[in-house]
Amino acid sequence: MKNHEKGMLAPGSLADKTIVITGGGSGLGLSMAAYFLALGANVGICGRNEEKLKSAAQELQERTGGRVFYHPCDVRNYDEVERFREKTIAALGPINGLVNNAAGNFLSPTERLSHRAFDSVVDIVLKGSYNSSLSFGKYWIDEKIEGTTLNIVTTYAWTGSAYVVPSACGKAGVLALTRSLGVEWAKYGIRTNAIAPGPFPTPGAWDRLFPQEFMQQVDIPSKIPVGRVGHHQELANLAAYLMSDFSAYIQGEVITIDGGEWMKNGGEFSWVGDLIPPEMWDVVEAMIRRKSRKN
Ligand code: HXC
Ligand code: NAP
Repeated sequence: MKNHEKGMLAPGSLADKTIVITGGGSGLGLSMAAYFLALGANVGICGRNEEKLKSAAQELQERTGGRVFYHPCDVRNYDEVERFREKTIAALGPINGLVNNAAGNFLSPTERLSHRAFDSVVDIVLKGSYNSSLSFGKYWIDEKIEGTTLNIVTTYAWTGSAYVVPSACGKAGVLALTRSLGVEWAKYGIRTNAIAPGPFPTPGAWDRLFPQEFMQQVDIPSKIPVGRVGHHQELANLAAYLMSDFSAYIQGEVITIDGGEWMKNGGEFSWVGDLIPPEMWDVVEAMIRRKSRKN
């Protein structure tokens, strides 16, 4: 097993934490939950599908032996978020961590979207994140708890992206939320940070963004400088570090974990390596030198 596939922090690193993860019943949320539990945290998860949550909680309990609580909650609805928070406190005690991970997304030309489709994605991503941040933030300020929030965005929060425009709008808002509250609520001892992942295979994302037929035409690892997609454990390592007190001086920050993907997409000459094999460089160099002598 390679190092990035292993847990990074010492056992017990999150022993004093009770962390809720929105959308913790599947994908990256589930992987983060498993690692937080393994490090000694209590974990509360929510999502809309109760059956999915129930079996995720059971799996987490069996794998880690930790304390897990689940409750159905649509993060678009503030009252449901409040109820989820209250029920988690009743089950697990005071909460000091929140991961805004729940998201909605699908690939589509924007002109094909109804306004309801646009709302649906933005409401899960942005409204869901500010609903939770507000509900948990007010609770932490009232109870004088020094809480930590981690928002899961993605790199097109700052580049934008065609064909996932509602998600790009929502994630850009969540990044603004991260930076703004990172400053405003620091005085209460509340930390707010974000992670911007590149591609990490999950059924939720892959079914909606890279349908199988389409995948046959696209080689995702070849678009990533390190030549591979992300491993869930390396994201869980970063998330656990940002939720832990080891990262106490990181505030209002977004940390990218994408194998260099967005830099490659943004760099003017990033495509050159795909076009010119190493053995051609003597020829190319000679061509350039010949021309530049004439000028
Ligand atoms: C066009 C679509 C559509 C599609 C749904 N709609 N799918 N329009 N193309 N493929 C439209 C519907 O017709 C409807 O509009 C409106 O969107 C709402 O649809 P519902 O099914 O009623 O919405 P809802 O049940 O709230 O489901 C939300 C969802 C769904 C976003 C549409 O996909 C979902 O539940 N997603 C949750 C999980 C998820 O998306 N995970 C992936 C995250 S990946 P009308 O007008 O007909 O009423 C991610 C990665 C980012 O974020 C970066 C990767 C590198
Ligand atoms: P996922 O498995 O589909 O996770 C999304 C979770 O959010 C699901 O458990 C879903 O559960 C929940 N959810 C959706 N709408 C909700 C709502 N209204 N209320 C409460 N919960 C809701 O996809 P994932 O890939 O793990 O994504 C996790 C996070 O990583 C997202 O923020 C995503 O944008 C981000 N991300 C992923 C990738 C990637 O490559 N996978 C890359 C960059 C960023 P229900 O359907 O049961 O509600």
